[in-house]
Amino acid sequence: MSSAQPSLNPTRGMRDFYPADMAVRNHIFDAWRAASEHYGFQPYDAPVVESLDLLKRKSGEEIVNQIYAFNDKSGRELALRAEMTPTLARMVAARMGSLTLPIKWFTIAQCFRYERMTRGRKREHFQLNLDVIGETELTAEVEVIATALHSLTLMGLPPEKVSVRYNSRLLLSALLAFTGVLPEYHAATFLVLDKREKITAEQITELLTDAGLPEGQIEATMAVMRVETLSEAEAMLGPDAPAIAQISRFNHLLAQYGLEDRVSFDIGVIRGLSYYTGIVFEAFDSERSFRAIFGGGRYDNLLQDVGGKAETGVGLGFGDVVIGELLTELGCIDATPAAAEILVGYMQAEQTESAMRTANHFRNEGLTVDLALHAEKPKAFFGRAGKRPYRKAVYIGPDDVAKATIRLKNLDTREESEMPLPCAGC
Ligand code: HAM
Repeated sequence: MSSAQPSLNPTRGMRDFYPADMAVRNHIFDAWRAASEHYGFQPYDAPVVESLDLLKRKSGEEIVNQIYAFNDKSGRELALRAEMTPTLARMVAARMGSLTLPIKWFTIAQCFRYERMTRGRKREHFQLNLDVIGETELTAEVEVIATALHSLTLMGLPPEKVSVRYNSRLLLSALLAFTGVLPEYHAATFLVLDKREKITAEQITELLTDAGLPEGQIEATMAVMRVETLSEAEAMLGPDAPAIAQISRFNHLLAQYGLEDRVSFDIGVIRGLSYYTGIVFEAFDSERSFRAIFGGGRYDNLLQDVGGKAETGVGLGFGDVVIGELLTELGCIDATPAAAEILVGYMQAEQTESAMRTANHFRNEGLTVDLALHAEKPKAFFGRAGKRPYRKAVYIGPDDVAKATIRLKNLDTREESEMPLPCAGC
């Protein structure tokens, strides 16, 4: 048997949350929840453990290679979820008959991906998921994007610090069809094009060859890669093409929320997940020094693919890691652990009961109260009270008990107010 102590660090890529880390996490989660509810999304949840088969079949190729998979004691092939979308599709498909569509749902899901660790990427993260299922109108895309942007405002991030870029897989498909790429190659082509900012043209050719595209089809794909602007795309497809009309309508709807300047077209946004079929989008910090803050899009076939009725969906995933780093870098976050409103302490063990009654009284009044667990000298007590953001303190000594009063001290103004010592149980 090894005598070495087990490591005190969490498993590589996993995260411990000490109280200061929880202050950051709660700041993000509170904004996510408030914004989601403000925009009319309902909460849902599901187990972290899913069937490997569901995740393997429904996630993009990139994610499939990152799945934490294992067998349970009965030999079932299981996995820790890498994303929430296949699970959501499974849940909705299971209740399709009884749900009134469209639905707007949100969750904060812990996800696991065996990723290469870089800035903004861990092997475990939390992700706000906002999804609308059963709505073909582009209002659904606008709602999820507007909600995510509102959560950023609630987090204290100035609007100019983040912008959203979008593209349309309908447009990309139309362009690929225009240059002669056959529809059966489009899905594989998207996944390769998604990597185009990270790899060379030769590597793209190699990946397209691996995906089974014949030489002529690769040349046709490269012609689409050379399209850089919406006007170039429009010149190829014509102003009446459905994909062009879709984009103008999307812009029109964004403008109703005043978001047209924060959400702009970028043909380079493709997304690495294979299930997207329509508008796809990603949010980035204005300096572009971090990975995507959130990303999502429309998926027309996923529900049917998991065995449900054909229904379209739109959604996004918004991780806590990148936004936490950005908020910290911009000084928009206070990592001071939360403290109760009142700290109650006492000088000698004889005042324990009086202090407990005092804490009980204020708690019954709905205030948050932290009670000292043993007697301490005034200097130690007030030193402790000053270190965390308590607003008030009550310190009970033998004189207070003799007079049957307590003094509630406002730690900001130093003012004291006197009141009767609460009785047992009140
Ligand atoms: P995704 O782009 O793979 O999409 O992830 C969404 C967001 O999750 C990213 O923009 C990032 O904020 C965060 N994220 C992803 N992987 C990591 C990681 N390893 N470490 C830290 N943060 C990470 C999806 O997952 C889709 N299922 C989103 C969606 C929902 N589409 C429709 N509905």
